[in-house]
Amino acid sequence: MDSELSKLGSNLITKFHVLMRISQIYDSKNVALNQFTQESLLAINTFIQREGNLCLKIVGDDIFLNEQRLRYSVEGFNSFKYLVTQWKKRFIGDVLYKEVLDEETMREFIYILMGLEEGREENATLFNEKLRERHISTIEVGPLEVSEKEEGAYILEKEDSREVAKKVFFETIGTFKEVVTHIKGKQHADVRKLKRLVRKAVHLVMEDESILLGMTAIKNYDEYTFNHSVNVSIYSLAMGRRLGFSRGVLSELGITAMLHDIGKSKIPLEVLNKPGALSDEEWGQMKKHPLTGVEIILNLKQLGEVNAKMVVGIFDHHLKNDLSGYPKLFRKKRVSLFGRIIQIADAYDAMTTPRIYKKVPFTPEQALAVMLKDRDVCFDSILLKMFIGLVGVYPIGSLVLLDTHEMGIVFKPNPDPQWIERPQVVLVERDKRGKGMKELADLTERNGGNGFKRSIVKVLDPNKYHIDIAQYFL
Ligand SMILES: [Fe+2]
Ligand SMILES: [Fe+2]
Repeated sequence: MDSELSKLGSNLITKFHVLMRISQIYDSKNVALNQFTQESLLAINTFIQREGNLCLKIVGDDIFLNEQRLRYSVEGFNSFKYLVTQWKKRFIGDVLYKEVLDEETMREFIYILMGLEEGREENATLFNEKLRERHISTIEVGPLEVSEKEEGAYILEKEDSREVAKKVFFETIGTFKEVVTHIKGKQHADVRKLKRLVRKAVHLVMEDESILLGMTAIKNYDEYTFNHSVNVSIYSLAMGRRLGFSRGVLSELGITAMLHDIGKSKIPLEVLNKPGALSDEEWGQMKKHPLTGVEIILNLKQLGEVNAKMVVGIFDHHLKNDLSGYPKLFRKKRVSLFGRIIQIADAYDAMTTPRIYKKVPFTPEQALAVMLKDRDVCFDSILLKMFIGLVGVYPIGSLVLLDTHEMGIVFKPNPDPQWIERPQVVLVERDKRGKGMKELADLTERNGGNGFKRSIVKVLDPNKYHIDIAQYFL
């Protein structure tokens, strides 16, 4: 979808979301609705005027606008999710708007939609009848198509924790973004909410580390800085948990890791996103970010007591194991534990995420290989070993080829060390519409005899197969 159309689409979904919610509070004659109806109307009519018509369709967990999949955005995620859930509950799968709408039609449409009884399969027919009764012929509604496969396919376990994790993940990115914007604008930044969210993340990691780790596979390079900081925080938390840190220390580690690059908020974007090599002066600016970061967190009032671990963790995150990194030290010291943890999480996430100047990132396997090669110079080798154990031989989000000629995406590492090469994978299959299905396979499953039903043959590069890994974790 071209970017202008995708902007129009996201705006439309946001406006629809608000109107759907408002319609649950007020009756259709209430004046409070006017503004929201008009905003939705403007969004939808702009789209129709550009495209001639609009067909909004729900397929699986996706929204298609005129046959093109709408990509979610961090800000729009809640609206997106709400719309998909509400329409699915009412068994409405698609709506065709044949021409521009007027205010009255928009209102009627939303009230009929939200008034439908949940779970009735004949809702689409009923909906069309109601539209005809009101002499509306410009809108046509179709039922939700649920393929048999799809019905049986949603067996992804721990659906609830996963939903909570998604919410925490996206809310954290949004909140972090606000904090950064405030710091950039030299405004007062309130970090209390961020601290609350980190505590939730700690709770989730204690419960099952693989769920939040799965979120790190959602690589979204438009939002690199925010996405990266949250991912580094998740990896650090998972490492901290394996090191036996208490909840309190984990919270400190989580927030430190999230703020590790906060000093970069003072570096101009042209330098940060520069595709080519940096000049000496620009590099000099870049190298200051650990120290600037320390200054910033010391001035964050609501961070509470900032202890030495946090300060040093940020200061140390580019020192490298042999102190050959930056800032340059006058007196040699050992890199702090927080610093050593963040260094590993930071390097791994940076390498596996696409960037403006490097659109094809390393696969998880390639990144780990590079890190192992550099281990003496850059990392604490024991912590690195632990990290590899954590992300697995086949890290979450890896695309693998199975001996059944199927492709799978590693979804959850096997917690039992003897089965480290047998994670759970989501099978990559496509239905007629090219939509990926979600069917989970446990590679420890036997084939009836002595062998296994499925085994990994090798790791594949998802970029070569045009597979959007993030889709499988949303
Ligand atoms: Fe950094
Ligand atoms: Fe970083």
